[in-house]
Amino acid sequence: MPVHAIPLAELAHGLPPSFERARSWCALLEAGSILYFPRTPLPIPAPDLEFLLSRRQEASPLHKNIAYQPVHDALCGLEENQISEGESSRFRETMRRYSTAVASFLADFLLPYRERWQLDYASFRPFEERGRQLPMHKRNDLLHTDAFPTRPTHGARILRFFHNIHPSRTRDWVITEPFPQLVSRFAPHPLPLPRAEGAAARCFKALAELTGITSVLPGLKRTPYDAFMMRLNNAMKEDSEFQSHCPREEVRFAPGSSWMVYTDTVPHAVLAGQFALEQTLLVDAGAMVHSETAPVAVLERLTGAKVA
Ligand code: SIN
Ligand code: FE
Repeated sequence: MPVHAIPLAELAHGLPPSFERARSWCALLEAGSILYFPRTPLPIPAPDLEFLLSRRQEASPLHKNIAYQPVHDALCGLEENQISEGESSRFRETMRRYSTAVASFLADFLLPYRERWQLDYASFRPFEERGRQLPMHKRNDLLHTDAFPTRPTHGARILRFFHNIHPSRTRDWVITEPFPQLVSRFAPHPLPLPRAEGAAARCFKALAELTGITSVLPGLKRTPYDAFMMRLNNAMKEDSEFQSHCPREEVRFAPGSSWMVYTDTVPHAVLAGQFALEQTLLVDAGAMVHSETAPVAVLERLTGAKVA
């Protein structure tokens, strides 16, 4: 079942869940489910909500979402000339509160992952998603799995926690077939399989060549895993036949709801909606309760080599 709804009543009135319960939620995520809270367990304080919804929409939809970096307590993506210093620090405080609330909720809710993740960026998504004019590889209305062009994860999982803060409209996603099927659809056939000594090295090279990405960023080297995941993201977006004919399931997230999902393996697209908050966590692949489901493990099984 791709969408697993969790009513607030299941959260045991604010008490931390048992380890077994938390483990079952991790397992659902790892199996490709979207964990959906029809009513968010993390309501945004009313003044923060009012502030976010009042952000003027003068900026062109070509602009990026606004990102918050918890490690530096810094915002990026804000137009300097469109916002006063006071507003900017207000923004930062609001994002800091969201980010902190998500991290502390997930430390209990996903107990087996506690201290096995890095708190990555949070984002505020103020633009109408329908009809956003973005370059093809940046489009989020085409089905894709997530990979970061400038921030390779080296095998860590991309877990995202969303909140639809629009007062009345749903946020509309579409999802499609699971990761192992996608890999066999998009990966070149056959993937290189090593048979003898030295094959692992050959595999690295072959995979990097197949993905077409051999460039590295200073200090941020892409492993064959990162190159593969980036290439998969682009290949899905480029394939118009796949986009129009793959099995599609629509999912509408209610106003005031939250959901979380491993977006590195669950192919998704956002078709419509406005005003969302999101927090990304990079979860250590070794922390998975079913480690064989991690994409790094799927690719290693296919290639017979270490890819990250
Ligand atoms: C995405 O990761 O593709 C965007 C999802 C969203 O903003 O709802
Ligand atoms: Fe995405």
